[in-house]
Amino acid sequence: MRRPLPPKEVTSLNDVLHEVSVLVKPHFGKGRAADYIPELAAVDPMKFGMAVATVEGDHYGVGDADEPFSAQSITKLFALGLALNRLGDEVWTRVGKEPSGTPFNYLSQLEQEAGIPRNPFINAGALAITDILLDVVREPANLVRDFMGVLAGEPLSIDDAVARSEMETAYKNRAIANLMRAQGTITHDPSAVIEAYCRQCAVSITCRQLARAALPLAAAGYSPVMEESIFPERLTRRLNALLLTCGIYDSVGSFAYRVGLPAKSGVGGGIVAVIPGRAAVAVWSPELDRYGTSVVGVSALEHFSRLTNCSVL
Ligand code: DON
Repeated sequence: MRRPLPPKEVTSLNDVLHEVSVLVKPHFGKGRAADYIPELAAVDPMKFGMAVATVEGDHYGVGDADEPFSAQSITKLFALGLALNRLGDEVWTRVGKEPSGTPFNYLSQLEQEAGIPRNPFINAGALAITDILLDVVREPANLVRDFMGVLAGEPLSIDDAVARSEMETAYKNRAIANLMRAQGTITHDPSAVIEAYCRQCAVSITCRQLARAALPLAAAGYSPVMEESIFPERLTRRLNALLLTCGIYDSVGSFAYRVGLPAKSGVGGGIVAVIPGRAAVAVWSPELDRYGTSVVGVSALEHFSRLTNCSVL
């Protein structure tokens, strides 16, 4: 039997978050903050924040829930939502819907698969989405930032130092974009695609804002923050399916095993998870496992899912 979420008394979800923040303590020091984007290596590895936004419009937070961090690949979810809203199923002629079983920045699968990325969350797929958005706007990163901000109910900013830091070291992503340009699966100048992509990844957001921004995915496409429908219900189900199968790259199976929720990770240490019909949960802690996912974040979501019995599986 499922326990209702949130529990009836407002305090009990706060109690859950506090319990989780204690239970995760042994997991600090087990991972390493991303250092291939030098600016991210400077973040305090001991940070931990977690927030829940419910479909009823309540929100809860613990620890550093109101401190901004670099959203990184979590922005891919919102970029995909925008692309699907604007272009519909045409998006699926440019990118697949299958788990890749490969690291997020893997190159050689593209060579074997004619430049069609397996899914929109690996970097190749996200670059294809950026290319698609470049057809409709000059500054896709600003579009994604503004979309996330409107959903969060507060304007967001792009951290220029993080964006520059990634652009200076984006050798692998440039290789991916150049290969896709050669294969004809992106159409714009690869440098322009990389610049837009790195700026998009550098959106800063807090856990509390991120939980609110993802709430339409838990509410059949309705944004309680904006008081309007953002995605058709069917699209929401599809986005959740993609999160469940592809959102955590090549550790998506063990994430489903431990947490049992559709989710998206980012190398800034954030993870956002969806509890369909009930809530969105965001967690942030910078130390990553070898798959680029927050070690403490996964543990926090595992405890949260167990304590509230909210797994979809
Ligand atoms: O492209 C990159 O490498 C980063 N901007 C984003 C990667 C990322 O967040 C992977 N997710 N865990």
